[in-house]
Amino acid sequence: ASTQVAIVGAGPAGLLLSHLLAERGIDSVVFDRRTRTEIESTIRAGILEQGTVDILSTLPGSRVLTDGNRHDGIELRFAGEGHRIDFPSLVGRSVWLYPQHEVLKDLIADRLAAGQDIRFSHEVTGVSGIDGDRPAVRAHAVDGDGEVVPETVIELAAQFVVGADGSRSVVRQAVADRETSRYREYPFAWFGVLCEAPPSADELIYSNSDAGFALISQRSDTVQRMYFQCDPDTDPERFSEAELWDTLQARVPGTTLREGPIFQRDVLRFRSFVAGRLRRGRAAIIGDAAHTVPPTGAKGMNLAIADVLLLADALGDLVLEGDEHRIDAFADIALHRIWKAQHFSWWMTSMLHRTPDAGAFDRERQLGELRSVVESDAGKTYLAEAYTGWPFSR
Ligand code: DHB
Repeated sequence: ASTQVAIVGAGPAGLLLSHLLAERGIDSVVFDRRTRTEIESTIRAGILEQGTVDILSTLPGSRVLTDGNRHDGIELRFAGEGHRIDFPSLVGRSVWLYPQHEVLKDLIADRLAAGQDIRFSHEVTGVSGIDGDRPAVRAHAVDGDGEVVPETVIELAAQFVVGADGSRSVVRQAVADRETSRYREYPFAWFGVLCEAPPSADELIYSNSDAGFALISQRSDTVQRMYFQCDPDTDPERFSEAELWDTLQARVPGTTLREGPIFQRDVLRFRSFVAGRLRRGRAAIIGDAAHTVPPTGAKGMNLAIADVLLLADALGDLVLEGDEHRIDAFADIALHRIWKAQHFSWWMTSMLHRTPDAGAFDRERQLGELRSVVESDAGKTYLAEAYTGWPFSR
């Protein structure tokens, strides 16, 4: 069996890529080890940059503009006071709160309606031939327990293989170079909760408090997403619901949180990572397979979408015209934005969290940094530019 582009991973990156390739008349097959239900029900990111919305809203049947909520700002809270960053007046752009699993439902519906071949419950177990012009992927069906079924092997030849298979990417092992990969870890994590309650605030609150960071986010009129900084080794079951509310509440002094049953809790460890090579011969990696950012600032999914736009153009030239210029330029152009997003995510993280070994000097300096941002149009404008997303280069 063969196709033009083999795409590993049916997340936002892999599915949007298959859509953009189909628009250009290029066939692809998408593999994902998860079931459609798992993909459509896992709660992940929530904030879409303006440019991401512009692209997603071109999908037939996209609900982002009808069911998403435009957010014209965020609040930075520190030293007991809130400071609003107003995006439209600073940069003429906004962001949208539209949960990632809703993006995925829209993308999967679009793809299936168009007859796209998506192999759910299929794990890609090997990638070969990427240094020649006929790469291939090997995949196996995954059973109900998540185990690979050895006798179900599929071999699929392609002209190009794309790894959009997330932070534990299989394709990355074939493409990236460990020596030149870059990463850093952080001495804290986020404790995330989902609760049934009305929103506690109109917009997101990023709070630097003496007790540590908290983020008050949303999912809908009835479901809210909140996070607080915790030790990376925290056992999510360690806290009672009352303790979780006390912890969250203590970190957003000045706001009374509207409480409700907490129905999901998780500890998100975070790190910064950029793979040492994004493209090798007839394969490339995009999205979390290629880079990871800490969550503060909501760049992860948006950065994946930026990669996709570049790669779709490059693959269009390669597959339809045999022209390699843009695929050769892909990694350098992608890395330009990736490192800007890495910096922004690191900066938001370092400015808002309490580092365990931070002393009194570090604490006062951090408040000075926050004041430098909120008391300066230049400071606020940088934050707004980065948060709403730099223009896509193509
Ligand atoms: C959410 C996550 C983020 O990392 C962020 O910066 C804003 C919102 C969220 O999950 O809602």
